[in-house]
Amino acid sequence: MTEQGKLTDQEAWQQFVQGCQACQRCSLSQSRRHVVISRGAVPAPLMFIGEGPGADEDAQGIPFVGAAGKLLDLLLVAYDLKPDMYHIANIVKCRPPQNRVPTPEEAKSCRPWLARQFQLVRPKLIVLLGATAYKYFTGGTEGISKIRGQWIEKSGYLILPTYHPAYILRNNNERVRLWDDIGMVRDKLEELGLVEPLQHQPDMPLGRS
Ligand code: URA
Repeated sequence: MTEQGKLTDQEAWQQFVQGCQACQRCSLSQSRRHVVISRGAVPAPLMFIGEGPGADEDAQGIPFVGAAGKLLDLLLVAYDLKPDMYHIANIVKCRPPQNRVPTPEEAKSCRPWLARQFQLVRPKLIVLLGATAYKYFTGGTEGISKIRGQWIEKSGYLILPTYHPAYILRNNNERVRLWDDIGMVRDKLEELGLVEPLQHQPDMPLGRS
């Protein structure tokens, strides 16, 4: 507690985590092994939002630790974006069975948690990973290939939709687009003075051809 009787940032975060862990707002809570809340820093200038936990994330209670997460991490390391710069979360915090897309009701049930997370993380830039994150976060209905790679300004935030890394694992020929989009994030962080400029051009980890 602060002298004014307010929760400290750390206490507020702990209270938020406890709330998520006890959540039974939708039926995904019945089949989950773990509530998957975040990895990275709080607060953080950059927030990634994915769709929902898969089997690996459900088992470990940490977002993006499976194959898609490994690809995301390769990109973050290549652009020298360290975990103290970013926060990773999902539209829903519990695994949808068989990794299906979360239903609108599930996304709606989870939204107050994401809204609270957002308040605590206070990001400047938001990267939406894939069509589901784009749809549920912005309400937009455009296809992801149409709107990816373009900044959207909304209520003082900068939002960049891009491909989900799992899509890139299945469509390797598109990988340069995800690479370029994370490059745009890097450029924007530099422009806003939030990271030091890179000393040399990064190499795309999986080759550019
Ligand atoms: N895919 C997602 O959208 N989120 C995860 O946490 C893992 C895979």
